Amino acid sequence: MCGIVGAVAQRNIVPVLIEGLRRLEYRGYDSCGVAVLANGEPRRARSVARVADLDDQVRDTRLAGATGIAHTRWATHGAPVTDNAHPIFSRDTLAIVHNGIIENYETLGEVLRGKGYEFVSQTDTEVIAHLIHSLYRGDLFAAVREAVQQLHGAYAIAVLHKDQPHTVVGARQGSPLVVGLGDGENFLASDALALAGSTDRFIFLEEGDVCELKLDGVRIADRDGQPAQRDVRQVAAYGGAVELGPYRHFMQKEIFEQPRAISDTIPQADGFDPSLFGEAAPKVFGKIDSLLILACGTSYYSGLTAKYWLESIAKIPTQVEIASEYRYRDSVPNPNALVVVISQSGETADTLAALKHAQSLGHQHTLSVCNVGTSAMVRQTEFTFLTHAGREIGVASTKAFTTQLVALFVLALTLAKVRGHLSAAQESNYLKQLRHLPAALNSVLALEPQIIAWSEEFSRKENALFLGRGLHYPIALEGALKLKEISYIHAEAYPAGELKHGPLALVTEAMPVVTVAPNDALLEKLKSNIQEVRARGGQLYVFADSDTRIVNAEGLHVIRMPEHYGLLSPILHVVPLQLLAYHTACARGTDVDKPRNLAKSVTVE
Ligand code: G6P
Repeated sequence: MCGIVGAVAQRNIVPVLIEGLRRLEYRGYDSCGVAVLANGEPRRARSVARVADLDDQVRDTRLAGATGIAHTRWATHGAPVTDNAHPIFSRDTLAIVHNGIIENYETLGEVLRGKGYEFVSQTDTEVIAHLIHSLYRGDLFAAVREAVQQLHGAYAIAVLHKDQPHTVVGARQGSPLVVGLGDGENFLASDALALAGSTDRFIFLEEGDVCELKLDGVRIADRDGQPAQRDVRQVAAYGGAVELGPYRHFMQKEIFEQPRAISDTIPQADGFDPSLFGEAAPKVFGKIDSLLILACGTSYYSGLTAKYWLESIAKIPTQVEIASEYRYRDSVPNPNALVVVISQSGETADTLAALKHAQSLGHQHTLSVCNVGTSAMVRQTEFTFLTHAGREIGVASTKAFTTQLVALFVLALTLAKVRGHLSAAQESNYLKQLRHLPAALNSVLALEPQIIAWSEEFSRKENALFLGRGLHYPIALEGALKLKEISYIHAEAYPAGELKHGPLALVTEAMPVVTVAPNDALLEKLKSNIQEVRARGGQLYVFADSDTRIVNAEGLHVIRMPEHYGLLSPILHVVPLQLLAYHTACARGTDVDKPRNLAKSVTVE
């Protein structure tokens, strides 16, 4: 989604800005741009193509300057056309880049039009540009501080002004922004990752902060306008660009990285102790009486899977809710509940807002399951469990999902132990199973050639149904999500028992029905559902555990999963669904890692 990079230096900063945009590309965007102060005038280049195209433009026009801002845009207000691409100018004196949404842009726009400002884009951003311009009296820092008081919504901005060389001013509220500290130069970005290679010293700005970058330092004011001291953190984890290696796409690479990612996420300790989640967790976990899980997208499905584990192993009531729904409905808070937010990025706007909402309702105990240790979500929760998936580039989440499942399984076992539902023998047995998971996953990944054969047929379909029962219903949901995200085939998932209550009407030869069939207590029920589809001429594609005795027949295609994995089976069964979506998308020739209209990190509502 939208990305910001800014810099003040004594050298041409354009290559650093472009490299920063490149590092943010994987998040998804539809246009990009850069502006610098060149001989005291703001000059810019913008593109509705890729950052590589912007780079060509910059080289062709010899755009250079020591003070600059840059942006990747994911359209919200106004189509992805050049006029709407950032940086946006106000009267050729001020340039701004902006992430987020300004909710009162229409009202502010009216006032500014009344003052003679002309609008040339359809963006909400242009309102901020003119507002700051109208408040500028020779001090950009002061003008931005005054302007943000009038903004409603979520934003991160970076601004430069022609009369203030070597100055970039930033502000954040609801969208992330970090300052990168250099020697005689300073940087700003929406994600520290953008500045890898330029610095490893960061200040993570807090909500309401406004900052001013100069060559020799950075000053910050808090939301009340008071000077603020913020910790400087050394973050060395943002190495160079991630290599694709022998893989065709990052998604494929990330699917195959899952054994390693899972092995890194499984705790080293010999048991499940609450201290895995934070120092105070041993005290708190004993007191909580329920869980409220909040997340979006794939992370929501990991929460749905966890509900089955938490209620069956730990016997703790668990509610799972889509973050964007929870934040806007009236709910009944329970101060004894543990609020769990799940997020790969830790920056998803809806999940962050849902967390804030839960806290404002009086929920005191919060835990984040997150893949980014420096993210806002981790900083805003009492407890944390970090997944060690490593950087995930493909927009369609894969290794982040399975590592979240591992984290949530560990949470279920930890709570089971605290609540007296886990014997020492069970504990060591589950630990053994977890440790064997990477090997079991490798056997599932070896099914790729068989899945490629199926994907050829899938690529010619326009619809697909996914069925699962119990623990595997969320896996069916995730399989359908993967397929629609990257292959653009319409896919829906149902709990298999619901088939006869509606979706059976859709079953014809043209509708493939994908079924996850582990050898669990619900197998016989699932077999009946399979017959219901076959009787109507439907084509079934079943991922069956080897001991289920479901075999190939007319209209029934079976791929055997290597072994039955008990309660951990969802972690294995989702992998062939990821591969099926991936190879189907490849066969259809879509942009697998950057599917149309989607973004990796959704930092707007
Ligand atoms: C976007 C991504 C999904 C992801 C969701 C939640 O929609 O495309 O892959 O599941 O955001 O992201 P999070 O970072 O909070 O897990």
